Amino acid sequence: MKKGSFVSIADCSKEDILQLMEETARFEQNPNQDVLEGKVCATLFFEPSTRTRLSFETAVNRLGGRVIGFSDASTTSSSKGETLKDTIKMVSNYADVIIMRHYLEGAARYASEITDIPIINAGDGANQHPSQTMLDLYSIYKTQGRLSNLIITMVGDLKYGRTVHSLLNGMSHFNPTFHFVAPEELRLPDIYKQFLDTQGILYEEHTDFSPEVINKSDILYMTRVQRERFTDLMEYEKVKNSYILTNEMLDHSKPNLRVLHPLPRVNEIAYDVDDNPKAYYFEQAKNGLYARQAIICEVLNLSLRA
Ligand code: CP
Repeated sequence: MKKGSFVSIADCSKEDILQLMEETARFEQNPNQDVLEGKVCATLFFEPSTRTRLSFETAVNRLGGRVIGFSDASTTSSSKGETLKDTIKMVSNYADVIIMRHYLEGAARYASEITDIPIINAGDGANQHPSQTMLDLYSIYKTQGRLSNLIITMVGDLKYGRTVHSLLNGMSHFNPTFHFVAPEELRLPDIYKQFLDTQGILYEEHTDFSPEVINKSDILYMTRVQRERFTDLMEYEKVKNSYILTNEMLDHSKPNLRVLHPLPRVNEIAYDVDDNPKAYYFEQAKNGLYARQAIICEVLNLSLRA
């Protein structure tokens, strides 16, 4: 991993990922430690969030650090026209690490280039969501007992879904086979398919969310169609109900299948799936606390080795 910041999962080697997962497991064993005593962590959220912000802030609190920041940029001086550059420079005067979510692709990378303190990317537009990827990988490992040679089906908004784009990068070290289920309008962009081609990773694209695809999968990674990414709301209306997973659709799935979703969901997973033992999305979100503890300590060079 490029030392200092955590901007893209593509910056992480396989060894980096495995080491972070080991640290994540240690934090799951003991999430209450004082390793961040005296540290101030800033959470700058220019886009809405529930899980990412609150799990990062819980991570800091449980490790004895302190949190400053905002969850609504309209209450900050960016609403008066202050640039991102100036905001990052200012906050760097106050905090030891900045955890930021921004609607512009590349915003976290840009921030990392104008400050000496570590930047953690909590999501930048449709680009990357690397801390989500770490909790996704950890969840896949916990439920499957391995990361290698799995069949992963991704469903929904594969065009704008930053969790999808990050997870493709992260899983590329582990020889997956992907099935991509999306309406024509939300197909995976070519740049990601070209990446998979260069890595020799097999994938198939589908518009039909068929039993054949579900029943061969080890992981079903559902995603929300993101209204906020559409400039034309008529386009959103056309695709918003494309795929809805119901309990019966899992009847003939593999015993080890687990349903993941980065959340929030709207209607793409019916509520009766929640009680199915194959539903793992709430535990997945809980794993985010431990994964984010590991990431914060890694960028601050405070990883526990004992
Ligand atoms: N998965 C995720 O990023 O959720 P939030 O938008 O609630 O942070």
